[in-house]
Amino acid sequence: MATNETRNDTSYDTLFGKIAVEQGLCTDAELRRSLEELQSRSKINPIMLKDLMMDLGYITQSQSDRLRKSIKESKAVTHQIPGYKVLGKLGAGAMAVVYKAQQLSLNRMVAIKVLPKRFSGNPEYVERFFKEGQAAGKLNHNNIVQAVDVGEAGGYHYFVMEYVEGKTLHDDLSAGKVFKEDEALGIIIQVAHALQHAHSCGLIHRDVKPKNIMINTAGVVKLADMGLARETTDIEAAQNEAGKAYGTPYYISPEQIRGKIDIDGRADIYGLGATLYHMVTGRVPFMADDPADVMRKHLREELIPPDHINTQLSAGISEVIEVMMAKNKEDRYNNVDELLTDLEAVRKGQSPLRAHKRFDVSVLGQLGKGEVVKAADEGPDKEDTIARYRIATLVMGAVVAILLLTIVFLLVVR
Ligand SMILES: Nc1ncnc2c1ncn2[C@@H]1O[C@H](COP(=O)(O)OP(=O)(O)OP(=O)(O)O)[C@@H](O)[C@H]1O
Ligand SMILES: [Mg+2]
Repeated sequence: MATNETRNDTSYDTLFGKIAVEQGLCTDAELRRSLEELQSRSKINPIMLKDLMMDLGYITQSQSDRLRKSIKESKAVTHQIPGYKVLGKLGAGAMAVVYKAQQLSLNRMVAIKVLPKRFSGNPEYVERFFKEGQAAGKLNHNNIVQAVDVGEAGGYHYFVMEYVEGKTLHDDLSAGKVFKEDEALGIIIQVAHALQHAHSCGLIHRDVKPKNIMINTAGVVKLADMGLARETTDIEAAQNEAGKAYGTPYYISPEQIRGKIDIDGRADIYGLGATLYHMVTGRVPFMADDPADVMRKHLREELIPPDHINTQLSAGISEVIEVMMAKNKEDRYNNVDELLTDLEAVRKGQSPLRAHKRFDVSVLGQLGKGEVVKAADEGPDKEDTIARYRIATLVMGAVVAILLLTIVFLLVVR
């Protein structure tokens, strides 16, 4: 057994206690109390911290077993990756485990994403894992988690990145936080800047969601996990993935669900819109028990406007979210530059002009006013056309109403 845990192994106890607190299984105070008790028992009746904490009712047997397993794994990793000292587990996602570690050469904290050994035999998975490192390595932006290194040692594939001390947006949302409009905009604008940079380098994130948005202790937002990122021109990779839906159902774009191969930056705009929707309403846009039903709703169900759920929201932010989450990517913002213009406007209390334009275009389009749609599509100058159309509609309505009233009046007088 790699852990060599014995009754007198204080370093094992220290690690066990540290990770138990980190993973939220017990509080700092509970750990302190346990360590004091451990100390006082050490001479007469030595006991391991994990057993003592179970005796005290701070952790359960299954929590203890899980912790032991994770320590065993982390110790194995520690011995395999040269140049790094693994300090503990930060978290685990669907595909990998993330550890906090010290990079010995530069004496700094880093986060290391390690592929579980059982996946190492899958070439498709390993290739995707390395692509994450290479894609992130091309990016350099304050709002993107910086890639540090990528490699393979002792059968473990790993990806070293900047350590973000803080929390993920998912932590806040799962605790039930509903963001005030201004705070939400502040966060989303930072992510939009990160995406603007990634897109300008030809990379699409493809998995924008609260779990991949971290906020450090200084309040700086960091977009993590270019895990499903790839070159926009990487058609071959796209074709290999055709028909498969990658990403998480709550925030995934309709075109990714359809397994389209020509995914572009507008898929990230959809994911960011779904994230903003969740932040300001406290609900994911489409909810169902079964992931397949969630995806069906992304494809077909009409979005409940955010300001119908949270009536404190401005009409502006609601419109922006609806445009970000349009089912057809052609109805969304064309790019993140356009989106940022509207997000900044709403933050200043102004109208999101680009969203207005898109709204008017799609509403008038449904009414069959093809020539107005075309005019509006030609540029911002044509917004006058829409305004004139609206005035004409109002005048016509008023004339019809007056005529009706006159007829009623004449009938009554007779
Ligand atoms: N650079 C980092 N610095 C600090 N903590 C991190 C870092 N990257 C990831 N983490 C932590 O590790 C956890 C696991 O990350 P991972 O990317 O493997 O999965 P995820 O994004 O949470 O979920 P999913 O399975 O949907 O991808 C994160 O939730 C976060 O708490
Ligand atoms: Mg992640």
